[in-house]
Amino acid sequence: MPFRPRHDKLAALPRDPRADAYPMPTVPHGWYVMLRSHELRQGEVVSLHYFGRALIAFRGADDRPAVRDAHCPHYGAHLGSGGKIVDGAVECPFHGWRFGPDGQCVKAPFAHRSPKVSLGGFPVREHSGLIFVYVGSDRPTWEVPEIGEAGSRHFAKPIDDVCRARIHIQEMRENIVDESHFHFIHGQSEPLVQEWQSKGPFAEVRGRIRRRILGRDIDNTFDAFMYGPGVMVVRTEGAFLSVTAIALTTPIDDRTSEMRMLYYIRIPSRFPFLTPALKIIFRREALGEVREEVRIWDHKIHQPRPVLLTHEKGIKALRRWYAQFYPPLHRA
Ligand code: FES
Ligand SMILES: [Fe+2]
Repeated sequence: MPFRPRHDKLAALPRDPRADAYPMPTVPHGWYVMLRSHELRQGEVVSLHYFGRALIAFRGADDRPAVRDAHCPHYGAHLGSGGKIVDGAVECPFHGWRFGPDGQCVKAPFAHRSPKVSLGGFPVREHSGLIFVYVGSDRPTWEVPEIGEAGSRHFAKPIDDVCRARIHIQEMRENIVDESHFHFIHGQSEPLVQEWQSKGPFAEVRGRIRRRILGRDIDNTFDAFMYGPGVMVVRTEGAFLSVTAIALTTPIDDRTSEMRMLYYIRIPSRFPFLTPALKIIFRREALGEVREEVRIWDHKIHQPRPVLLTHEKGIKALRRWYAQFYPPLHRA
C-alpha cells in the first residue's frame, strides 16, 4: 500500500522565503545514487533530473553504466526524448549524432570527421546493486565501500521507499544525530546516546535505540555509517528484528532533495517464513515516520546557529564534518 502524505494545510499558505534559502551550495561534493542497477537495462536511455540538471543514463557496449547531460551539444535536443542506443553509444533523435559512455561524439552523419565535442557527465561506479555518480571539482579520491547486505541471501529483497522534500540534503543527514527527535517521531522511549567518530569522508555514529513495537519496548543497536554527503548505511539489530537501511540523499535542485531508503530485513534463520510478516510490520511502523519527517522538512528553515542542548552536540559534530564537502569558501 503506498503511503499518502496527510493533507497539508500549510501548503496552501504563502511560503516564508527563508524556508528555501541555504548558505551552503546545493550539491556537496561526493558520491550519489540516482538509480538501482536493475533500473538501467542494456539498450535503454533513462531520463533523470538531479543537481538542477537534465541527465540521461545508459549502458555502454561493455554494460557499464554512464550518466551524462541530457542535451545534445549540436542543437540542444534531449537525448532521453527519442534517443536510442546504437553500438553502445546514445544516438540523438534529431540529426543522429552519437555519443559514447565517456561523452565523446563518435559519429556525426554527413560530417567529414566527428566534431570534437562531448556531453558533460560524471565518474560512475556500480556495486551493491546501485549506480553511483561522483560530483566534484576533480577526480574522486575515495570510494563508497561495498554494502554486503545488498547481495546477501540472509536478507530479503529491500523495501524501496522514495520521498522528496523541500530541504537541503544536509538537513536530511542531520536527522541521524538529532537525538531528541527519536522520541517524538520514532517512538523511542529513552534518550538516545550516540558516539560520533569520523575520518576524512567517512563518519559513524554508534548507539542503542529502545522503541515500542506492537506495545513492547525492544532494545536495538543503532549504528550509522556515512560515506560522504549522499550515502549512509544504518544497521539496527534486535531480538525481534534486524534491518539494514541504505539512505540515499540526492539534491534535485536548489529547493528540493530526494531521500531514497532501501530497507534490507534480515531473514530470521529459524523462522524464514516470518519474513513477509516482518516486512509488513516494518512498513507500517517505519515508513509513516519518514512521512512525518518530510512534513516537517517541507516547512523547516535552516538555522545556521541552532540553540542546541547539551545532548544535541551531534548536530554540531555532523556539521563540522559535512563542511569538508563544500568548496573552502562555504565551510563553516
Ligand atoms: S540536436 Fe542532436 S544531433 Fe542535432
Ligand atoms: Fe528520523
